[in-house]
Amino acid sequence: MKHIRFKTNRFNTQSRKYDSIKSQQYPSDTLPMWVADMDIEVDERILQGLHYYLDEKILGYALETQEYTQSIQHYLKRRHDLEVECSWVVTTPNVVSSINACILALTQPKESVLVLEPVYMPFFKSVEAVGRQVVFSSLVDTPAGYMMDLTDIEAKVKAHDVKMVLFCSPHNPVGRVWREDEVRPFLELMNRYHVIVVSDEIHMDFMFKGHHHLPLMKFDPHVIMLMSASKTFNLASTHVSQMIVQDRVIRKKIKSLYSQLGLFHHHEFGIRATTIAYSHCDDYIGELCEVIESNVNLVKGALKDSPVQVTPIEGTYLVWLNVKCVGLPTAIIQKRLIQEASLWLHDGSIFGPTGEGYLRMNVATSPQVCLEACHRLKSWLKGEMHESKSSV
Ligand SMILES: Cc1ncc(COP(=O)(O)O)c(C=O)c1O
Repeated sequence: MKHIRFKTNRFNTQSRKYDSIKSQQYPSDTLPMWVADMDIEVDERILQGLHYYLDEKILGYALETQEYTQSIQHYLKRRHDLEVECSWVVTTPNVVSSINACILALTQPKESVLVLEPVYMPFFKSVEAVGRQVVFSSLVDTPAGYMMDLTDIEAKVKAHDVKMVLFCSPHNPVGRVWREDEVRPFLELMNRYHVIVVSDEIHMDFMFKGHHHLPLMKFDPHVIMLMSASKTFNLASTHVSQMIVQDRVIRKKIKSLYSQLGLFHHHEFGIRATTIAYSHCDDYIGELCEVIESNVNLVKGALKDSPVQVTPIEGTYLVWLNVKCVGLPTAIIQKRLIQEASLWLHDGSIFGPTGEGYLRMNVATSPQVCLEACHRLKSWLKGEMHESKSSV
């Protein structure tokens, strides 16, 4: 591997993933495999670009350069076969703020917004936070992976007069890479009921062999696409993300909302890092996907002889583990795994009602850490299930 370098000791770096272990008073040897942040160093070419900037010794206001918008345009065409115009790019500080902005700018108070759960929790938290109604349609867990239930979706749209849907593609946490035969009927349904589609595609580069990301905008130019280099290139704290909005009126509404908040400028680090990432780092993405897929296979292999079921995964770096076998609320399993096995996974129930019974494991780390995590999980389960059996 030429571009991938693991970094699995990130203590005392202001890392939320690592330094929360201390602030939460968790065991000091806890493996943090919760928040979606990778233990992989930023590509050297991006770091170089940021060094040049620091060498200028002034951190003044930054310009959104043409080079930056063109890098996004070319990247979308080159890697995802999506044609967009530079003027469609709206730069925002992060994807979650883009979600909130879409809801605020394009729906009215108390109107209904649909989310397909289990899903990245800000999808429904944002809807609630800005005074709209969340309507859930549950994805269906099948042996082949999670599926959308279009009959349920249509019933919910009709019953609640849904105005907007927040779609996740590929889907965090269930790891689905939606296929054309799934996306097309979904979009047709949304069009039939005039539902605005906001598609969060932040994980679009994480594709396993045989799977291809299909930007929803390709099938319907009215879709609002949300993206950011922050997941693929581990740049979350540089705070630059994008909305791709073809409709001029909608773009104006979104921009005016950010202006009302006084957010006119962008983080220079983010603009530079995004430009370099999208212009020069395709080979890094290729290596990254290989590493992640190989880690997923390690986890599958290591958990094969355990009662944990690994949900089929096609993309992202988040493995969705079915631990219903334990028979305890997942929030308790999560706490006990931290205290008793020094393993910090995400409690699935925070991703929505049907997330109960699942844990999410972030495998964007070294193979050794993935194997150690599986070992700790299995040992803990062995003890736990043995105890519960003997107490019957
Ligand atoms: C689907 C999805 N959207 C958005 C985000 C967060 O993006 P940002 O940090 O730009 O708000 C995440 C982070 O895990 C995510 O999984």
